[in-house]
Amino acid sequence: MKDVIAFIDDNRKKFVDDLIEWVRIPSVSSDPKHAPDVARNAEHLAAQLRGLGAARVEIWPTAGHPAVFAEWLQAPGKPTLLVYGHHDVQPVDPLAEWITPPFEPALREGRLWGRGTVDDKGQVYVHTKAIESFIKTAGKLPINLKLIVEGEEEVGSENLDILMRQKAADLTADFVCVSDTAMFGRGIPSLCVGLRGLAYVEVTVEGPALDLHSGTFGGGVRNPVNVLAKLLASLHDDDGRVTVPGFYDAVRPLSETERREIASLPFDEKEWLRTTGAPGAFGEKGYSTLERVWARPTLDCCGISGGFQGEGAKTIIPARASAKVSCRLVPDQEPDDITRKLQAHFARLAPPEVRVRVENLHGGRPYLAPTDHPVFEIAKRAFSKAFGKPTVFMREGGSIPFVRTIADVTGKPCLLMGFGQPDENAHAPNEWLDLDNYHLGIKSAAYLYDEIARMG
Ligand code: BES
Ligand code: MN
Ligand code: MN
Repeated sequence: MKDVIAFIDDNRKKFVDDLIEWVRIPSVSSDPKHAPDVARNAEHLAAQLRGLGAARVEIWPTAGHPAVFAEWLQAPGKPTLLVYGHHDVQPVDPLAEWITPPFEPALREGRLWGRGTVDDKGQVYVHTKAIESFIKTAGKLPINLKLIVEGEEEVGSENLDILMRQKAADLTADFVCVSDTAMFGRGIPSLCVGLRGLAYVEVTVEGPALDLHSGTFGGGVRNPVNVLAKLLASLHDDDGRVTVPGFYDAVRPLSETERREIASLPFDEKEWLRTTGAPGAFGEKGYSTLERVWARPTLDCCGISGGFQGEGAKTIIPARASAKVSCRLVPDQEPDDITRKLQAHFARLAPPEVRVRVENLHGGRPYLAPTDHPVFEIAKRAFSKAFGKPTVFMREGGSIPFVRTIADVTGKPCLLMGFGQPDENAHAPNEWLDLDNYHLGIKSAAYLYDEIARMG
């Protein structure tokens, strides 16, 4: 390991330069205009991996954006690790708020700024650079390793399940590691042991066939914007609980031990609130902030539209209104079940003088790791060698649909070894990657491979 670690130290700058080249490609998966960029982005990664002596490097097409697969199987008798990441990125708007352009990566304050630097290109490169460090020193990896990097994570991983069924034989592994989460705080190595799932719908309320003069017709027909506002307002009670019938039926309650563990983390609520910019914290009554964002389900309206949006006043009864509604889910809630409950709820509440439709946009299942599995001890050892500090267990409120799917398919726990920071501006303007952390992340990945090799 000495040579590998020395190589990582010696190539600290080169590893950043290599990442910069990849971040320049605007692989925004939600925007059809960028589809050729997402494809080029996959090619760029595949070319890098081909240079690292992988026995197989393949671009796996899907009905949407392609995934990249690579494997190194030069360690007979040793365990196989499957590493997952995603190469697509979020849209960049509002563009005017970026200090430097999103796809012109810039170095400031020990950080690399740009879209995708931390979510998730930098974290994919943590692994590719750890792989590179073994290949260029020892000539091979100490374990068998498979890498899958998908191109549709930021749009709900819609084609991933199909791909995983097609490629099931290629994706078998003894261990699974995903680097696409944040650490609990600066310099605190963290293993994420829970992710929330997601049910995302669009609710549309339709009334008149076209916008009507509100003087001529107002008072005579239902107003879809008014109806939608009332529907949305009825989805929570005053205690912040979701009122959709059956919403909490499958929720696994937090055990006393879990609540104690969460409460024991050094969480600075004031600082957390400061990073949000909101004047106060709010959420479901009876739970702490960390419990609410990690382990309780939510329902939120992400956007609303309808009627006149221009300057000044325009007197109309709008023809329609719509809202995007997302629910973060916890074990054992199922996205399809929650979507059906939302549909039934809206159908029940809708007055007969409008049409209400609820369209399913995408979903993902929640995940909770079996923390008593030996892989967590292996990961803790790797982390403490790289960071020189003890590891904390945490959860995340975000979602990565792959995680639950692969855990169910392989029957193995998924190790969520993330290297982001809580204030890294993922999905927002001015996303950044902490470069010290990138460097320590590469070492952590290298130590992880080494620790796994020692097992078998
Ligand atoms: N890397 C995130 C997941 C994440 C979010 C980890 C927050 C840690 C904290 C991932 O890229 C992501 O953004 N996921 C989406 C999934 C959705 C589009 C299905 C999310 O959580 O909104
Ligand atoms: Mn991500
Ligand atoms: Mn993301």
